[in-house]
Amino acid sequence: MDIQEARARAGSNIALVKYWGKRDEALNLPATGSLSITLDTLHTDTRLVPDPSLAADQFELNGRPADPARLRAFLDRFRALAGREGHFQVISSNSFPTSAGLASSASAFAALAVAANRAFGLDLSPTRLSELARQGSGSAARSIFGGFVEMARGEAPDGSDCVARPLAPAEHWPLEVVVAVTSEEAKSVSSSEGMRRTMRTSPYYPAWVEQVDRDLALARESILSRDFAALADVAEASALAMHASALAARPGVIYFKPATLACLERVRELRASGLDVFFTVDAGPQVKAICRPEHRRPVADALAELPGVHRVLEARLGPGAVELP
Ligand code: PMV
Repeated sequence: MDIQEARARAGSNIALVKYWGKRDEALNLPATGSLSITLDTLHTDTRLVPDPSLAADQFELNGRPADPARLRAFLDRFRALAGREGHFQVISSNSFPTSAGLASSASAFAALAVAANRAFGLDLSPTRLSELARQGSGSAARSIFGGFVEMARGEAPDGSDCVARPLAPAEHWPLEVVVAVTSEEAKSVSSSEGMRRTMRTSPYYPAWVEQVDRDLALARESILSRDFAALADVAEASALAMHASALAARPGVIYFKPATLACLERVRELRASGLDVFFTVDAGPQVKAICRPEHRRPVADALAELPGVHRVLEARLGPGAVELP
């Protein structure tokens, strides 16, 4: 069969129990498991157009030429699986700012995996696509699935059991997300570099690793029983502990801006005043506030009016990565 043109869409995801640190950098194997929610309106659309005149894949992101290095290595895996040559024009667009702690690599590699599966006619299972997406970016393994998703640490040295699985669909508990954007600039320390430095130099890193399994059990239980207060406690603790371990690296890895902290305070005030909302923060300065649908409006308004918040993005839980016609 000829290599075909293919399109796919994948939602970004936000970890409620964070992944921070790799036990194998080449295979992108995480040191711990993690647990996330996949979002609907924050997504990547990717089109793979086969082009026989190309000697290497070309990449365009949001209408501009972009660095194809990681993408070429990623597509090489699919070429090897299919036993085919062939290069692509890869045309992607994000519905949200790239590279600012909004997990653009997660939706990017999940969309690319689904599109490449179709382009090469491979017919791989979602679990296998999750494993492949992980090799592009650890968090991308989770964006293959929708709703609440758990990523296993896995034990196999080749990473074959280091995959995500759906924990509960979006309809199980339709939480919503408000993202407070405090900076539109690319972050100064990539998540991979931040993880490397934390693992090598932070005295708090072993304590972080030791805590994650307990947090995963708590988060899983609170999601299955829809216990908002319990999920709020564990998600905030996981995010703050991840940043505490990174802050204690040498030199310390600081992703927060002043407005990030202002948002965290505001979320806690809103919760104290009776709104069901909690925060999480990834490897960047944006704050993600997770709330019940009926509280999204007041949460978004309260964060939008804080000095240093450029804008707020809003999302619901969304489906897994899909092919587009
Ligand atoms: O997938 P990466 O390499 O961009 O790492 C993501 C790390 C965090 O976003 C900070 C946490 C997570 O679990 O998504």
